[in-house]
Amino acid sequence: MEENIFDGNALESDNFETNIRPQSLKEYVGQEEITSNLSVFIEASKIRNESLDHVLLYGPPGLGKTTLAHIIANELGVNIKTASGPSLEKSGDLAAVLSTLEPGDVLFIDEIHRMPKYIEEILYPAMEDFELDLVLNSDGKSRSLKIDLPPFTLVGATTRAGDISSPLRDRFGIVSKLQYYSEEELLKIVLRTSRVLEMPIMEDAARLIAKRCRKTPRIANRLFKRVRDFALVEKDSCITLSLAEESLKKLKVDEYGLDAVDTEYLTSLITKFNGGPVGIETIATSIGEEVTTIEDVVEPFLLQEGFIKRTPRGRVAEEKAYQHLKIDHMTTLF
Ligand SMILES: Nc1ncnc2c1ncn2[C@@H]1O[C@H](COP(=O)(O)OP(=O)(O)OP(=O)(O)O)[C@@H](O)[C@H]1O
Ligand SMILES: [Mg+2]
Repeated sequence: MEENIFDGNALESDNFETNIRPQSLKEYVGQEEITSNLSVFIEASKIRNESLDHVLLYGPPGLGKTTLAHIIANELGVNIKTASGPSLEKSGDLAAVLSTLEPGDVLFIDEIHRMPKYIEEILYPAMEDFELDLVLNSDGKSRSLKIDLPPFTLVGATTRAGDISSPLRDRFGIVSKLQYYSEEELLKIVLRTSRVLEMPIMEDAARLIAKRCRKTPRIANRLFKRVRDFALVEKDSCITLSLAEESLKKLKVDEYGLDAVDTEYLTSLITKFNGGPVGIETIATSIGEEVTTIEDVVEPFLLQEGFIKRTPRGRVAEEKAYQHLKIDHMTTLF
């Protein structure tokens, strides 16, 4: 798959996501175990001339689930139809999407953990036997209707594998957990984005972004974009290390890549609640964020990096958090 070629004005921000999104497994950086397995399964399904098994992708936001779903469809050479869990309110909504599928197509359901239970139950026979069982109500009478569906591949994405019922999870033949990215992988992503957006960056500057993006490609790209803005205003034709350093300072991204919300979370946990244990609702209220944002976006990285731990009685700050915020552990105890 070739990269996008831009004419002068095609560059602006609404195209940003689509342009920098890799289109093929070869362009997709990292997650090697997942991509190498997927390429075998995709190849095999093509040889057998059957639809690919259903795929469940899970992991923290911004690690490339949506991107991978589109790549699966591209590699299979089929169409992708997309829906999101919360948007499927009525059985008719699901039936409407399913009825547009052609043999082998990919149906991508994002936030699949937020799908209503009764929609999930309609999905079971659709996934297993490519059959849609609908109950139609008219004139106070109800009758059931069975519709044959073409074979298709359901790709589900979720940030919360724990919120998916086991009957649903069991119906996915391929279940993959996306991991946080290494610095080298993120470096590749930043350099690629720089090429695609035609804004040169020095390798040391790219590495700085790779170090400070919470190990997350979406944040790496977002930081690149912001740093690029600073470069444009300064009329620099290339992003240098000092420019990147200055910009990240202005963006309040610290040396671990923690942003203002992360820092506020840790500061609150330590200074207001003596380092915990404290319940997530209490922390959320104290910093004015949604519980779901804290659970899905903020905490996974803080847990992974050892700043906090989860205990049955609530969240607890680890020594690393005290050191990072330069707060003496003892002074907060009383
Ligand atoms: N492996 C990768 N290689 C290169 N770029 C990537 C990769 N993974 C993600 N990206 C970039 O990061 C951005 C975010 O990825 P994506 O939207 O697929 O994340 P997501 O896991 O679906 O997040 P969410 O859970 O919030 O929906 C994409 O625009 C893409 O450009
Ligand atoms: Mg997504």
